[in-house]
Amino acid sequence: MTKLTWLSHGSWLIEVGGHRVLLDPFLTENPAATAKAEDFDEISHVLISHGHFDHVADAAAIANRCDATIVAIFEIAQWFNGHHGVKSTIGMNVGGKIELPFGQVKMVPALHSSNLPDGSYGGNPAGFVLEADDQRVYFACDTAYFSDMKYYAGGVDVAVLPIGDLYTMGIDDAVAAVKLIEPKRVLPAHYNTWPPISVDVEEWARRIRNETNTKPIVLDVGGSLEV
Ligand code: NI
Ligand code: MN
Repeated sequence: MTKLTWLSHGSWLIEVGGHRVLLDPFLTENPAATAKAEDFDEISHVLISHGHFDHVADAAAIANRCDATIVAIFEIAQWFNGHHGVKSTIGMNVGGKIELPFGQVKMVPALHSSNLPDGSYGGNPAGFVLEADDQRVYFACDTAYFSDMKYYAGGVDVAVLPIGDLYTMGIDDAVAAVKLIEPKRVLPAHYNTWPPISVDVEEWARRIRNETNTKPIVLDVGGSLEV
């Protein structure tokens, strides 16, 4: 059983196989977050999709406090190790996969940008496909629509797609992505954090219901889905 809890924006708590894993924890300066970085203990791994502040913000503090391993693209893993004293990091690259104690993680492409907050080079942006307990979950993370999504994530059990527009796909392209990927269920992310990315999530959900065979699941901040 895998449980996904939306912490707002692109931040997720993934509970799987007795492990607690965070994706892109952004809590401290996030006006939409209801949890605090200090709320998270016993985190074993922190996955980082790319270098922007709204994705790396709380990762080092949580990893250092919990002795968690940061999993990121090679350049970002090195940055956490060299600039933030994170002892355990796994650097990978787009297209690669790794077996971790809770399941298999594949780093997949994302169409975005990725410098780090101090101007360091952050390599390429990424998404993740998590495979655990015979379930596949695609976290597209910050990305535009691109047709290779179908290759990497076609038919997944759950897709998590950005819908907030401006910095990522908006509603139209997120609906197109669902038509392409055909996941069983889809969760929206990266919206309503700040006014520039506020969208009508019910309109998005209506369109998914009307135009696709996928079930949209709209979580409140702090809400969970069992996969
Ligand atoms: Ni970004
Ligand atoms: Mn972002």
